[in-house]
Amino acid sequence: MKIIPCPSSPLLARRVAEAAGIEIGGAVFKKFPDGELYVRVMEKEGVVVGSINSNEDLVALIFALDVLENAKAVVPYMGYARQDKVFQEGEAVSIKIVAEMLESRADEVVTVNIHSSDAASHFSKLKNLDAMPLVGEYFAGKDVVMISPDKGSMERVKTAAKHAGCEWDYMEKRRIDATTVEITPKTIDVEGRDVVIVDDIISTGGTVAETARILYGLGAKSVSAACVHAVLAENAAIKLFNAGIKDIISTDTVECAFSRISVAELIAENI
Ligand code: R5P
Repeated sequence: MKIIPCPSSPLLARRVAEAAGIEIGGAVFKKFPDGELYVRVMEKEGVVVGSINSNEDLVALIFALDVLENAKAVVPYMGYARQDKVFQEGEAVSIKIVAEMLESRADEVVTVNIHSSDAASHFSKLKNLDAMPLVGEYFAGKDVVMISPDKGSMERVKTAAKHAGCEWDYMEKRRIDATTVEITPKTIDVEGRDVVIVDDIISTGGTVAETARILYGLGAKSVSAACVHAVLAENAAIKLFNAGIKDIISTDTVECAFSRISVAELIAENI
């Protein structure tokens, strides 16, 4: 069985191949002049590695899986997972459809920090790996405090902080009166501290930028952002630096300039 790298995850696929001691298989991905994708895989069995960070990534991944007789799908960033239920009548449950497309073509689907347990519930053969320990280890020995932007992400920051060996907290909303809501860390005083906001995904950057604004308002010395999936849509990185974010640290589930932590070994151990 060989590793088939999709165009969305060329480096990570090669790192996984190296870590697992598996060869890279032959495959061609190209685009016709009208924009349609062409995929050719010169293998019968394979582990297809490709994040879904665009519609095109999804098509490339599904086409490659479809060629193989025995396939595993490694989807380091599982896009479409935020549409994990019907929020408004008539909506497609995107991740349910993606799960069907993947699982009808792959014997197993491996991903990293899928957005929610609701999203994971649409799969029947999913292995969901946790990269938060790796995010934590990146900060080991650094005098930082890790903050989750909300209570929902608390478990993630708790895991990262355990591996960093640092304090952690989450932002809590408190209603002061009928018109005022205060958002602050639940217990920790961030004044004069180097803070790292930890989240699973940074997409538009709105969540992190707003959290950074509050933390600087409370006297934080510096605010950085760490995440698993640096989707960074709509010039999010510029938005974050304009909000005073000192640094962005992410894994390579979405390959970008901020991918300083690799999930290759984690994936290699699980395929
Ligand atoms: C929300 O549930 C997630 O954990 C992230 O906080 C969210 O996806 C970030 O989105 P954005 O960067 O667009 O604010």
